[in-house]
Amino acid sequence: MSDNMGIRGYDYVEFYVGSAKATAYFFAKALGMKITAYSGPEMNVRDRMSFYLTKNNLKIVVTSPLEPSCWEVYDFITRHGDGVKRWAIEVDDVEKAFRHATKRGAIMVSKPKRTENHHGYVDEAAIRLYDDTELVYVNRDNYRHLFRPNFCEPKRLINVDSDETGIQGIDHIVGNVRENEMNLWADYFNNTMDFETFVDFKAGDIGTKYSSLLSKVVRSKDNVIKNPINEPYEGMKKSQIEEFIEQYNGSGVQHIAITTKDIVSTVEALRKNGIEFLEIPDTYYDMLRKREDVKIDENIDDLQKHRILCDIEGNGYLLQLFTKPIGDRPTFFFEFIQRVGDSQGFGKGNFKALFESIELDQKLRGALDEEVQEVLPPC
Ligand code: FE2
Repeated sequence: MSDNMGIRGYDYVEFYVGSAKATAYFFAKALGMKITAYSGPEMNVRDRMSFYLTKNNLKIVVTSPLEPSCWEVYDFITRHGDGVKRWAIEVDDVEKAFRHATKRGAIMVSKPKRTENHHGYVDEAAIRLYDDTELVYVNRDNYRHLFRPNFCEPKRLINVDSDETGIQGIDHIVGNVRENEMNLWADYFNNTMDFETFVDFKAGDIGTKYSSLLSKVVRSKDNVIKNPINEPYEGMKKSQIEEFIEQYNGSGVQHIAITTKDIVSTVEALRKNGIEFLEIPDTYYDMLRKREDVKIDENIDDLQKHRILCDIEGNGYLLQLFTKPIGDRPTFFFEFIQRVGDSQGFGKGNFKALFESIELDQKLRGALDEEVQEVLPPC
């Protein structure tokens, strides 16, 4: 512990989705995760169904509504589509962390609450983030069973077969906000949770000739929580951030970066499991081969084969790759990242290639057209 919040690290991320069963199957199959626990009518939880998936340090919950009284989940998925409702930080003392943040201006969502059964208890509290997202403080030191009370061993989806992906845990979670909201939320993290601004990407740092964005990265003092915040910046076309805000109907979580120790084998497995990634042109790798500062352990042919991006930073480097949107709307996606040496950045050298790739995808969706034209579907 190195701050007043007693932050230990990322805990779980909870998605609200149209069908928890279908999404749990997809995450288990595609990401190679294990369905570890289940909650629903069999556990006397009548209004919603949840699956808890794990893989090394990565913990994901997917929840869907079962009846109209579960308006909180219905409202979320109607407005935003499938997406991240909350992400949790494990802390030493939930009450202390929550009081520290709310005294300094954090918006209260749920006060510290203890849920218990004969296995022990779990403490949780939540503050608001963005339009409709929550940041949860959690401690389950005194719980000796699966996830939290009302969760039990799953009796369904227990044998989902998939290739080993080797994914490890969360590196960072990114929020997209409207124009002029980035500083507001960066200050919110810094003032209420003792975070600090680690990187400040200004106009012109990130973008193509068509669209650009501003981004600030805030982090906890010991660097275990990293939260970039993006806002759109004027460009000739609709930026990916504007498209997100429009399709998500507001601000929220854009992507989660998941770590791996061997990105080449991870991406190979993810592709076999059905994950779709953004396309990167061959010219990117031609340029990579010509650069004298690129001294990496990996074979560039392997990176090219799997369309993995590489950025050199200080005495280290990072390898990264971005999926296409995971759900039906062009909103949430995953990033996979391998850090080597003292790499702490976010792939600034790759932003242009990445943006051009995203714009290619936007173009196919018609999101860059000035006017939507009546066209025959391609198939
Ligand atoms: Fe990222």
